[in-house]
Amino acid sequence: MSKEQRFFSFLQQRIGLDVASVGAPMVERALRQRCAAVNAVDLDDYWLRLQQSNEEQQALIEAVIVPETWFFRYPESFTALADLARKRLAELGGLRPLRILSLPCSTGEEPYSIAMALLDAGIAGHSFRIDGMDISPFSVQRAEQGLYGRNAFRGAHLDFRQRHFDETDEGHRLHERVRQQVDLQVGNVLDPALKSREGSYDFVFCRNLLIYFDVPTQQRVFEVLKSLIHAQGVLFIGPAEGSLLARLGMRPLGISQSFAFVHQAEPAPVIEPKPLNVVPIMASAPNVARPLPVPARKRTAITPPVAARVLASDNSAELLAQIARLANAGSSVEAQAACARYLQHYPPHAQVFYWLGLLSDTAGEADAALGHYRKALYLEPQHPEALVHLAALLESRGDSAGARRLQERAARRLDREPEQ
Ligand SMILES: C[S@@+](CC[C@H](N)C(=O)[O-])C[C@H]1O[C@@H](n2cnc3c(N)ncnc32)[C@H](O)[C@@H]1O
Repeated sequence: MSKEQRFFSFLQQRIGLDVASVGAPMVERALRQRCAAVNAVDLDDYWLRLQQSNEEQQALIEAVIVPETWFFRYPESFTALADLARKRLAELGGLRPLRILSLPCSTGEEPYSIAMALLDAGIAGHSFRIDGMDISPFSVQRAEQGLYGRNAFRGAHLDFRQRHFDETDEGHRLHERVRQQVDLQVGNVLDPALKSREGSYDFVFCRNLLIYFDVPTQQRVFEVLKSLIHAQGVLFIGPAEGSLLARLGMRPLGISQSFAFVHQAEPAPVIEPKPLNVVPIMASAPNVARPLPVPARKRTAITPPVAARVLASDNSAELLAQIARLANAGSSVEAQAACARYLQHYPPHAQVFYWLGLLSDTAGEADAALGHYRKALYLEPQHPEALVHLAALLESRGDSAGARRLQERAARRLDREPEQ
């Protein structure tokens, strides 16, 4: 056993961190930092100090967590939330306010985005409460301050900043009207005490946490999350975290890009699907169109064809955009034809193979999908959506190790995303 292994086990037990997900070098770096900070002579010495001090345990946890977050991350999920919240409030008929949980909330961007989205949708402040919880006291403290630098604001649509923040010399200060909607606390998703909140929440956001856990821990946490959600409630997760949920009796709501799941047995709230625009997924990946949600592993109907004239484009970028439009509108046959047309006229492109993979996947043609996703990754090894979707496909075929490798690759890529 390496000298580091006991620290890896400590982190696994305390916060669920699967060291493979962030990579051992990242944790080793954190260990070196902490050794230097407390003047430990070596790892044995540091291990002793860690055993003796709660503060040091917390400091090590702070050194390894990934607090990366920003306002309105996956914007479609907030649009979906606003629609679902209105419906849920109508169901509740004024009996009680909506209860929402953001776990992990990191430095507050997620719970405050929820509050802004609901207020902007015309939902009165007294009609909802949000709990924000995170294992990092430092992050929770920053969330309480409600003061944000430019990294918290990403993407093209920042009009919410004018509505809900004051610009100050130190950064953008969140309005009290939004801040007061959120109750923040330090907490661990692995804490058994969470069970006492069973069935409490209409909406739970648990995004970009489970990618750092191994599969048994993910499973344990999903069971907890599932129990926290009211029978008619909705769970919002991160794009790479869907594969386990179907097995645990939850199903996707089918709202593009919202990554929203409901209990299997419950009838899904009815929501009009909105076709997607081709918008970059992140500012740092300008040529990447947003993916459809990770497909459920079952055959889905293909919607009727649209007019063939929409395929008449000779420009490669335009053709790519057209493929995305067709695929997002559910026009699978036309989208596939447009992909074929692209490959006939232009050099192979990862995005085209990704779309072909997704279209085959949605049609239940898993073998073909596998081939296409692999070609996409051959052409662009870090293609984010191909990584996520191929991982979901492998998982559904029982290749958990293969899926895990791809999820780790996707997570590493996200960690490296440069900030704006
Ligand atoms: C990448 S951020 C995600 C924030 C936000 N949900 C989002 O998607 O933008 C991950 C957060 O998980 C928190 N975290 C890690 N392990 C945790 C645990 N066991 N319980 C609660 N929070 C945890 C970290 O402190 C960090 O703030």
